[in-house]
Amino acid sequence: MDYVVMMPAAGSGKRMGAGYNKLFLQLDHKPIIIHTLLVFEEDPACKGVILAVKRDERNEIQSMLDQFGISKIKAIVDGGTERQFSVAACIEAHAENGIVLVHDAARPFLERSVIANLVQKATEFGAAIAAVQPKDTMKIATDGVVEKTVDRDKLWIVQTPQAFRYDVLKEASESAIREGFLGTDESMLVERLGHPVRIVESTYENVKMTTQEDLVFGEIILKRQQEDLV
Ligand code: C5P
Repeated sequence: MDYVVMMPAAGSGKRMGAGYNKLFLQLDHKPIIIHTLLVFEEDPACKGVILAVKRDERNEIQSMLDQFGISKIKAIVDGGTERQFSVAACIEAHAENGIVLVHDAARPFLERSVIANLVQKATEFGAAIAAVQPKDTMKIATDGVVEKTVDRDKLWIVQTPQAFRYDVLKEASESAIREGFLGTDESMLVERLGHPVRIVESTYENVKMTTQEDLVFGEIILKRQQEDLV
């Protein structure tokens, strides 16, 4: 089943402490953003990518796209001050019904089978998100004192991709912006409309490159994925 990707890539990556966009950091001689784009480049079901970037990084990103032969970019739009606004700019640039995947450029290790499951569930139910269950015991605490232990079976650590029917995502995004609601993912915007969101089990390798230590894990995950392909 075909889909289009909306990829926010306009962050500053302050937590990485690189002094420049963390998506430009290299893993195995390729920038992180290129690793992420290559997953979609190689998936025949992906019919295009809309990329949100910072205006002053547009040229640098364009030359990376050229250098690595990324051919599926349908549009490059200016990102916003918050991730949600970057995604909203992508939504505005794309006005076709069908399935849309929102995926952080900072998550290069997503698996094709997870994408396929998300697209299938979003086609059936309108909204589906990638997530994994916590491995540790989870507690709620206030001021450093435990209040209670949470039933771990009900908890999910949410990732991207998040897949939606275009009309569902557009309505959720526009309504959030109209009402001044700022969410940390697109699912939150859809949930607040009362629309059910399905969970699709993802992998622990689909980590977001956020801090320096993630780069160390990233090198290992990449190596393992490359070995699996041999
Ligand atoms: O900062 P964080 O890693 O949570 O950002 C997730 C994704 O959203 C990254 O790919 C980042 O480039 C993007 N982003 C964006 N616009 C912002 C902030 C983050 O496109 N204003």
